[in-house]
Amino acid sequence: MNASLAAEVDTTTPAVILKFDQNVMHHGGLGAIRTLGRLGVPVYGVHEGSRAPAASSRYLHGRWIWQPDAAAVERTTAGLLALAERIGRPAVLIPTDDAGAIFLAEHGSALRRPFLFPAPPPGLPRELAGKFSMHEMCQDIGMPCPLVAMPQTLGEVQDFATRAGYPIVAKLSAPWSVPGAGLRSTSIARDAGELDVLWQACTSAGAGLMLQEFIPADPGGDWFFHGYCDAKSDCRPAFTGLKVRSYPAHAGLTSFGRAAPNDRLRAELTGLLARLCYRGIADLDLRLDARDGSYKLLDFNPRLGAQFRLFRDSAGVDVVLAAYLDLTGQPIPEGAQLDGRAFLVENYDPIGALGYWRRGELRLGPWLSSLRQADELAWFARDDLRPFGLMCLRMGARGITRRLARQRSVPDHGGQPHYLPGRAGRSPSTSGSLPARPGSSTAIRLHTSNHGTGAATTLTSSIERETR
Ligand SMILES: Nc1ncnc2c1ncn2[C@@H]1O[C@H](COP(=O)(O)OP(=O)(O)O)[C@@H](O)[C@H]1O
Ligand SMILES: [Mg+2]
Repeated sequence: MNASLAAEVDTTTPAVILKFDQNVMHHGGLGAIRTLGRLGVPVYGVHEGSRAPAASSRYLHGRWIWQPDAAAVERTTAGLLALAERIGRPAVLIPTDDAGAIFLAEHGSALRRPFLFPAPPPGLPRELAGKFSMHEMCQDIGMPCPLVAMPQTLGEVQDFATRAGYPIVAKLSAPWSVPGAGLRSTSIARDAGELDVLWQACTSAGAGLMLQEFIPADPGGDWFFHGYCDAKSDCRPAFTGLKVRSYPAHAGLTSFGRAAPNDRLRAELTGLLARLCYRGIADLDLRLDARDGSYKLLDFNPRLGAQFRLFRDSAGVDVVLAAYLDLTGQPIPEGAQLDGRAFLVENYDPIGALGYWRRGELRLGPWLSSLRQADELAWFARDDLRPFGLMCLRMGARGITRRLARQRSVPDHGGQPHYLPGRAGRSPSTSGSLPARPGSSTAIRLHTSNHGTGAATTLTSSIERETR
């Protein structure tokens, strides 16, 4: 953190880091807690359980132990209003996953008084997060994207495979909406047998499957873009970086990434965001297609990307701080992207690296030396050790037995929305269940959502789907 910036920021407005996804191993939310908490902002986290690694961060002022449900609009709104009442003054609200961003855009009007959050066109986040709807939007506005199909029958699956050739990329059309199905958001099918298995799995889970041509990438062709757009859709800061390794290899979240300058890509995407009238934080994945020299848009996450702390500019600003400053009416200082910084996700990179090693693409020596180059780690921070310790325990437990890991993922509050002070909270006496808002019976009924057991059954898929 730039010391002069830290002194200049007015940190009196609290912030809430909102999480719908049931994945306890979500490192993006922890990054947001640290970015704002280190500055002195009172940060409140929404967590599925008090033993979720991010919930142990010393930078949390308060923890709202609760599982919101995007499908239960009234109960989720009531839960957020109850949290707002607890905080007692307007707070910046930062969604960390697609479900949260979509919920706020579509149902956030009742939350505008107690919370500060961007106002994109209401249907836009859903359209962008949906894999097929994003493809249709790309075609409408002339953004390059891979060839796709949304097959309805096995025959149509086979037709597309014949046209596009193997490998084929298979993606859930709305990955945020199929918890518990044990399906990966993105998979690569190398032959008809693998594609058939994926099709059957999606059909039985009732999940929409989109097929996409595989864009071959030379090393250095896998890019991502993170930015923050203000109310005029002016995108600043705007960062570009390279996905060096992912988990699973070649088809997943960034496990090792590097900030790299790309003026052409930055200009193309800031222009795209302005044309879309986009507002808020955005995280986009692209691949440089060597066949025609274009950057093809693969994925648009209408919220922070889990590796956002990779990017910082010379003024010390990342996308979460930019959002906080803008939403609280403070100017975002000018700065240039800090290039060359590297980000490592400690729990996924070793498994991802194994995939590259099996393909003969990575050896032990270069992998170890890349680890030493990491400037920013997803979990480990000298000034905030507990989340890393809990993450290790959870990964260890998962390694021993997935069953054990599932049991530990069960919310420890019986489904009740429950407030616990964070380690940065000033008043230990504030612990305890929150009473229902006067005149509101919905707040107390929040726990009747079936997520208490849902979380247990979805850890495997959540870890595999991961939030990118
Ligand atoms: N059509 C494609 N061709 C080649 N690789 C792809 C393609 N689509 C996705 N990938 C790879 O998989 C990664 C994850 O895909 P993405 O579309 O971002 O989905 P998600 O993040 O929801 O899993 C991308 O960053 C890229 O490395
Ligand atoms: Mg992605």
